Amino acid sequence: MNILILGGGGREHALAWAAMQNPKCDRLIVAPGNAGVAEIAECASLNIEDGSAVADFASANSIDFVIIGPEAPLAAGVADDLRASGILCFGPSKAAAELEASKRFTKEVCDAAGAPTAAWARFDAAGPAKDYIRSQGVPIVVKADGLAAGKGVIVAMTEAEALAAIDEMFGGTFGEAGAEVVIEEFMQGEEASYFVLCDGETVLPIGTAQDHKRVGDGDTGPNTGGMGAYSPAPILEGAVAERALEEIVKPTMAEMARRGTPYQGVLYVGLMIEDGAPRLVEYNVRFGDPECQVLMMRLGAQALDLMLACAEGRLGETQVNWADDHAMTVVMAANGYPGSYEKGSVIGGLDAMPEDSAHMVFHAGTAERDGKVVANGGRVLNVTARGSDLAEARERAYAMIDGIDWPGGFFRRDIGWRSLDG
Ligand code: AMP
Ligand code: GLY
Repeated sequence: MNILILGGGGREHALAWAAMQNPKCDRLIVAPGNAGVAEIAECASLNIEDGSAVADFASANSIDFVIIGPEAPLAAGVADDLRASGILCFGPSKAAAELEASKRFTKEVCDAAGAPTAAWARFDAAGPAKDYIRSQGVPIVVKADGLAAGKGVIVAMTEAEALAAIDEMFGGTFGEAGAEVVIEEFMQGEEASYFVLCDGETVLPIGTAQDHKRVGDGDTGPNTGGMGAYSPAPILEGAVAERALEEIVKPTMAEMARRGTPYQGVLYVGLMIEDGAPRLVEYNVRFGDPECQVLMMRLGAQALDLMLACAEGRLGETQVNWADDHAMTVVMAANGYPGSYEKGSVIGGLDAMPEDSAHMVFHAGTAERDGKVVANGGRVLNVTARGSDLAEARERAYAMIDGIDWPGGFFRRDIGWRSLDG
């Protein structure tokens, strides 16, 4: 079959890598892709948030299956346009993508489903929001309702910070996304994410992961899109995972179906776990980036079969074949990230990297210039390895990093510390 993947980051490189290993995949196009993707698939330039452009492109290229990577095309309704054109597609409808696109929507669905999450209130004006903060005390969490590229959440430790966050949101820092604000109880615990597929009816777990959001070693410095991840997440095994599935995920999916907007695609379930009890932090309507890279490393070629079964409503008859393995990915980012950084620095040593079922360098933000791979984003490479335990995966990932010659970049040296050294 001919497959089109939308997106151009490390997540999409990992999806493409897994799909290519599956004999069902004849032709693979990734839009826009990047320099790493170009080594294994065709790259195409396409406005991936324009549903009719994507549907036209898919028809013109005899595409049988479209996998949507990032949230923006999902929130824009690209999955709806594809399905309306009769094209098989992995990813939720615009209505179901509200689970990521609106914090208030998610809170309402969780309340209707009885899913445990932080106590909350919503506001569309600064005055009442500030009164509420003063009445609740700190710590407290202030969130822009809409999509804000991961930046619309302020965990305030002092009242002054919380009040400043309100001024920022209603002052327009996050544009439309901040016109409505959700204020939440601060939850204690350890975070982990659970990834499940849902075909509108059946829920099928496909793995757990933990990422490292802070830029610096020891979880210090500003937040990023994620500096590394590993799977499985030990804190989210056994009874805790079972509780998350039964108390949070399944009731939410049932509520979405009851509303007439069943969820189809991968659901990223961000959880806070305290004393073995999971509560929902957030849903994302896509794979995490870089969590996807470790999941694909572990699932390999079957990932395509799973996504197909999800899109075709066959999850009830589908199983995941688990290996007893562990994977880790370490993000290499451009110096300066998550602040301002330069593009164009040359990355050496990639040609000598091993590429097999236990070692893979996924490209997150690269481009090709004069035959050389250059940095073209903030997060640039995802050095990913698999092993029989997490320590072996870590050893392999950092050994690969030793072979990469890129003075323009940096990485965290302590990915996995919570599980390995904590
Ligand atoms: P979100 O975009 O909603 O996932 O929030 C980003 C990050 O803020 C999460 O990964 C948590 O680390 C933190 N966070 C969000 N909501 C809460 C909460 N209610 N309590 C504690 N931390 C939170
Ligand atoms: N790594 C966090 C995310 O993809 O949202």
